[in-house]
This record gives sequence, C-alpha cells and structure tokens, in this order.
Amino acid sequence: MPPVPYAGTRSRLGWAMTGSGHFFEESLEEIRRLPDVDLFVSKAAAEVIRMYKSRLPEGMRIYRDTTAAAAPVGLFYEAVYHTLVIAPATSNTVAKLVYGISDTLVTNVFAQAGKCRVPIIVFACDTAPELETKAPGGIVKVWPRRIDLENVELLKGFEDTAVVESMAGLVAAIDARMRCRGTSSS
Ligand SMILES: Cc1cc2nc3c(=O)[nH]c(=O)nc-3n(C[C@H](O)[C@H](O)[C@H](O)COP(=O)(O)O)c2cc1C
Repeated sequence: MPPVPYAGTRSRLGWAMTGSGHFFEESLEEIRRLPDVDLFVSKAAAEVIRMYKSRLPEGMRIYRDTTAAAAPVGLFYEAVYHTLVIAPATSNTVAKLVYGISDTLVTNVFAQAGKCRVPIIVFACDTAPELETKAPGGIVKVWPRRIDLENVELLKGFEDTAVVESMAGLVAAIDARMRCRGTSSS
C-alpha cells in the first residue's frame, strides 16, 4: 500500500461537491480561494459541471466517485483533514446524510468524517419554500418540498456539523475554521 499523503497532519480541507446547479459556480470560486484543498466529486457533480460548461480547479487533488467502497475515505482515518465541507449539497445527498446512508463518495466522506470527529460544514441548497436557482439555460424558480426542508432541519441536529444556508454563511463558517487553526484563507 502506498503511504497516505499528509497522514497525521490534519493540515488539509476536504471539500465534497454534489450535483446541484444551485451555487455550484460560487462554490468553485470559494475553493479556488482556499489553500490545501482536496476535492471529492459526486458522479452527478461531474456531470453538472459539464452542463454549466465550467471546470474543476487545476493543480488540486481530485477524488472521483469510481469505487463501490469509496476508497478515498481511508484519508479520514489517517487524520489528513481538519475540516470537511460539503457544498453545494443536493436535496438527495442531504436526505442520505440524515438517514445515515453511505452509498456514494460524498455520503461516505460525511459518515467517515463524523466517525473520525472531523468538523463538518454542509451548505444545503433547499433551504426556503421558494428559491431562484441557476439552470444551464438561466435562472428558474423552484419550490423545495416539505421533505427537503425537514431534512435540512434534521441535519442541523447532527454532532460536529454546521449547516449553512447562504454563500456568505459558508464563507464565514470556513473562515472561522481557518482562524481556529491559525491559518488565513485569504
Ligand atoms: C443541471 C442540473 C442542476 C441540478 N441542480 C440541482 C439543485 O440545485 N438541487 C438539487 O437538489 N438537485 C439538483 N440536480 C439534481 C441532482 O443532480 C440529482 O438529484 C443527483 O442524483 C444528485 O446526486 P448527488 O447528490 O450524489 O450529487 C440538478 C441536476 C441537473 C442536471
């Protein structure tokens, strides 16, 4: 087995992206601003990024959802990450997180971060009864269902998990984690 890079250092930020058009581009911008990020990309996120004609950041370690056992989760056992961010988080992934389902790369990194007591920040996108979101063709209105809103509320009750509902909230939560570690993010 090759050695795990950065094992034991808790020096890196793990960032998981799901297939949400809502705040996808803005999340990518924030990732580019930050030092020492490893990216975990759901299958849907890899498709959505192409639909928006966007690109993943270069020069970054990117883990894709290609194995059933979500092999990269081993990095969480090796104390590589100080924080896990999931942004943007689809209603699909939020539902799985809330019910303890770990059958994708992103739901697995959430579960393993939780079990390894790595602080987690989730940017849930379906947070209001009525939202404007960016589809590939432009802005559209959507009405998240009661189950979507309830799941976000349930996720707020999880240990070591901060749920944010806006880009400003996401940036503030990440900055707070960076300050806590004595690392500047700007
Ligand atoms: C262009 C596009 C935009 C999407 N935007 C959203 C979104 O804003 N919120 C959401 O919950 N799902 C959205 N979806 C649907 C998810 O990609 C889909 O539920 C997928 O199965 C989620 O998988 P994941 O949670 O593993 O990433 C979008 C799909 C497409 C094709």
